[in-house]
Amino acid sequence: MKQNEMIRLGMIAVLLTQTLIAMAASDMGPPAATLRAAAEARGMHIGSSVDEDALRTDTDYAGVLAREFDSLTPENSMKFAESHPAPFRYTFADGDAVVDFAEKHNMQVHGHVLVWHEQLPKWLTQGHWTHAQLRKILREYIFRIVGHYQGRVNVWDVVSEAVDDNGAMRQTFWSRGLGPDYIALAFQWAHEANPDALLLYNDYGGDGGGAKADAIFKLVQRLHEQGVPINGVGLQMHTSVDDPPDTKAVSANMARLHQLGLQVYITEMDVMIKLPVTRAKLEAQAGIYRNMMSVCLAAENCHNFTSWGFTDRYSWIPQFFPGNGAALIFDEQMQAKPSYRALMDVLSASGASSP
Ligand code: XIL
Repeated sequence: MKQNEMIRLGMIAVLLTQTLIAMAASDMGPPAATLRAAAEARGMHIGSSVDEDALRTDTDYAGVLAREFDSLTPENSMKFAESHPAPFRYTFADGDAVVDFAEKHNMQVHGHVLVWHEQLPKWLTQGHWTHAQLRKILREYIFRIVGHYQGRVNVWDVVSEAVDDNGAMRQTFWSRGLGPDYIALAFQWAHEANPDALLLYNDYGGDGGGAKADAIFKLVQRLHEQGVPINGVGLQMHTSVDDPPDTKAVSANMARLHQLGLQVYITEMDVMIKLPVTRAKLEAQAGIYRNMMSVCLAAENCHNFTSWGFTDRYSWIPQFFPGNGAALIFDEQMQAKPSYRALMDVLSASGASSP
């Protein structure tokens, strides 16, 4: 056989193989979409918190974030200690970078967090303030931050974690300094600063039933009845494979909040695994992500599902819960885990929606 004839036959063989592969792929349905495309088709937003350092330094990270998500929550940069580190100093650079990135990639930004008892600067917590002075500080802070992002950040966690684990009101720097009215005041000021913003109360451990969920419900019910401008509740949804959320209870909780006319956001979901990671634990984790996405899709008032990070390369879990990790939907190598597939299946309505 002549040499050019052999080359020609070789080329035909390559073309034939390519055609067969393409045919097989088309038998498997449309090409895999991204989470954000799948979510959009269901009227949902899918979000992640953003590690501001990783956004700056890790191009893989930024690439996956832009490809898969359409809602971003800055992980730390809009917290009091970061954004107002000294009495006359505000630092917006890291928060601005998250908002710039979001706008560039056609994503919305979820502001986090105006009033929280953690990550407060020392100048604030170690100062001796009268009631009037502290009131002025918080009012100015809220106007400054919400005003800075006016038109660019239109959802805010106004108050986080004001209820303690037993369901009592948590005693904090803010409650001690301003009295119980600080919650209503914060919502009022945030609303005045940006009347278009959707304002949330955000907490953990009250996703389904129990004393804390009931206390959160009573709190927001009272606020709502008093005419405080609150639009919804953020369920943080920090969960664990060993203690999965009760799907029915979460669904019932969302429904009673809907009765009040409130939105529900899943604001910080992760599912920690007690190390070492096994195949079975990854599958159990996928079931929990799947169930919570299903519950949110089924609820009339849940349109945003956000996880606290998206890759195990950057997650708060190993540091805050030693011995645990692997809580997110991409692994440290930025490969999709079974949990990613589970979310995709539920969003595309092609997968099983039971555990
Ligand atoms: C965490 C961040 O992920 C960490 O980087 C930081 O050191 C501490 O805060 N609930 C919240 C978030 O509302 O703000 C917390 O974020 C996680 C728990």
